[in-house]
Amino acid sequence: MEKLRLGVNIDHVATLRNARGGAAPDPVRAALLAEAAGADGITAHLREDRRHIRDADMAALRAALSIPLNFEMAATEEMARIALDIRPHAVCLVPEKREERTTEGGLEVAGDQNRLADYITPLREAGARVSLFVAPDPRQIEASARVGAAVVELHTGTYCDAVDAGETDAAAAELARLEAAAAQAAGLGLEVHAGHGLSYDSVTPIAAIPEVVELNVGHFLMGEALFRGLPAAMAEMRRLMVLARGAA
Ligand code: PXP
Repeated sequence: MEKLRLGVNIDHVATLRNARGGAAPDPVRAALLAEAAGADGITAHLREDRRHIRDADMAALRAALSIPLNFEMAATEEMARIALDIRPHAVCLVPEKREERTTEGGLEVAGDQNRLADYITPLREAGARVSLFVAPDPRQIEASARVGAAVVELHTGTYCDAVDAGETDAAAAELARLEAAAAQAAGLGLEVHAGHGLSYDSVTPIAAIPEVVELNVGHFLMGEALFRGLPAAMAEMRRLMVLARGAA
């Protein structure tokens, strides 16, 4: 089975920084610490409202990191301009609503195919691996392959919410959807990533899905880092990922 990569999302270091309006804590410092602790990539989401990551953070991350930078963004003209300027390793397109606390659903790819195909082309030509953040829905997976994405990131939020709520039947049903979506996507030649809401309690079955080659984890890891430090928080996540992979 292919190695499972751990991508670390550092958005919420910026959330904490912005709560006081100063320069600390610095998300670039967190990204470099994650890199030193063995992260396979760093993800940052530049939202339209700049509530956490800001434009200058993106440029600084690109300049500082040796590991791949995954630029998460909405499929807007403004973001395309910024991404084409920064030239990250990867671009992950997500839906974005101003009033949401976090990215709620997956991207509507099936209903927006022509626009997304046109949107992806220049990003791809600039060398970015374009990923679409989608629900484990066969229509969205099929459409993702059709519009020219290289990667789909499966939205694990519904699964993680069910695990956190102790709803075992709902969690099992959603896990089955994620497993089927991963197999479908890989069959269509897409690379498969997964993320959103992952914690030590929910990561194992997701890490055991053989087609999944990258997990992106943010909020839980940063919370855990407050108690045991980021390298130790990542090490425990990595241990669970490796164990799940071995057990699968
Ligand atoms: N993947 C994508 C596409 C996301 O939008 C997010 C949240 O920004 C994550 C992964 C990480 O989610 P979490 O912060 O809940 O671990």
